[in-house]
Amino acid sequence: MPRVRTAVFPVAGRGTRFLPATKASPKEMLPIVDKPLIQYAVEEALAAGVEKLVFVTGSSKRSIEDHFDVDPELERTLAESGKEDLLALVRNIVPSHVNCIYVRQGVPLGLGHAVLCAKPAVGNEPFFVHLADDLIYSDVPCLKQMHDEFQQHGYSVLGVETVPRDQTGSYGIVGVTNDADGRQRIEKIVEKPKPEEAPSTLAVVGRYVLTPAIFDKLERTERGSGGEIQLTDGIAKLLEDEPVYVYRFSGTRYDCGSKIGYLRATVEYALRHPELGENFRAYLESVWER
Ligand code: UTP
Repeated sequence: MPRVRTAVFPVAGRGTRFLPATKASPKEMLPIVDKPLIQYAVEEALAAGVEKLVFVTGSSKRSIEDHFDVDPELERTLAESGKEDLLALVRNIVPSHVNCIYVRQGVPLGLGHAVLCAKPAVGNEPFFVHLADDLIYSDVPCLKQMHDEFQQHGYSVLGVETVPRDQTGSYGIVGVTNDADGRQRIEKIVEKPKPEEAPSTLAVVGRYVLTPAIFDKLERTERGSGGEIQLTDGIAKLLEDEPVYVYRFSGTRYDCGSKIGYLRATVEYALRHPELGENFRAYLESVWER
């Protein structure tokens, strides 16, 4: 079974829910404690064995390229002041054998369009799509779990979780059928259905393993929900030709594209932080007692 060597990070959305914070700086650079969201994303992909990182960027995204680039001036300053730990931290953000490729999505026409923009950089291979604003905390990194599942059959795999019915309008929702081997194959996928029209409450979250057949489908996908070219609609076309499976990952997802999800992640990652956790817990308890 082919190994997945490429991860695509669509980071060209405008992040309107976080304005004005995201006016000149991308949502994916928002930090959770001391690391930007996009770095958590890259670390998860590297843990799944990826060697090529493809960022689909748009306007105001220069800081993402700078973050993954070498910064000789900062490195010199840290070296001169003897801050070896910090020096190692900034040097090792991306290992030297890993390639970073930046592709521009001129106009943010939707997630499906963003993925299609990555086609020349991905080639004819299976690949991951990772949405950095869905942060997943787990013992085994989520993309690694999904890669293990992909290796069993070689077809596309979508990360899913159950959501409350009144939230189906915020997600791609799938209808599934059980295969003889116990896997759940997608029969139907709909973007942002109303609760009464949703085929289930199983929602697609920001983790995908996709076969390259998706590119042809996206090329023939018209604008859908919200006037955007939806990845969900491309996947619906893919279902006509090959199976697509769901995968219920183990872990906790934080929707960092919303303010409340972002705050939850910040609090919980701070509580788990090896240097901060204890102090932060004491602080929260003091706030609670006020
Ligand atoms: P969202 O639906 O969260 O949209 O996109 P958004 O623009 O980032 O944020 P809001 O809703 O305005 O606050 C889901 C993912 O798809 C990417 C985004 O960067 C995000 O990672 N995306 C979306 C693109 O790369 N291009 C697009 O045209 C749309």
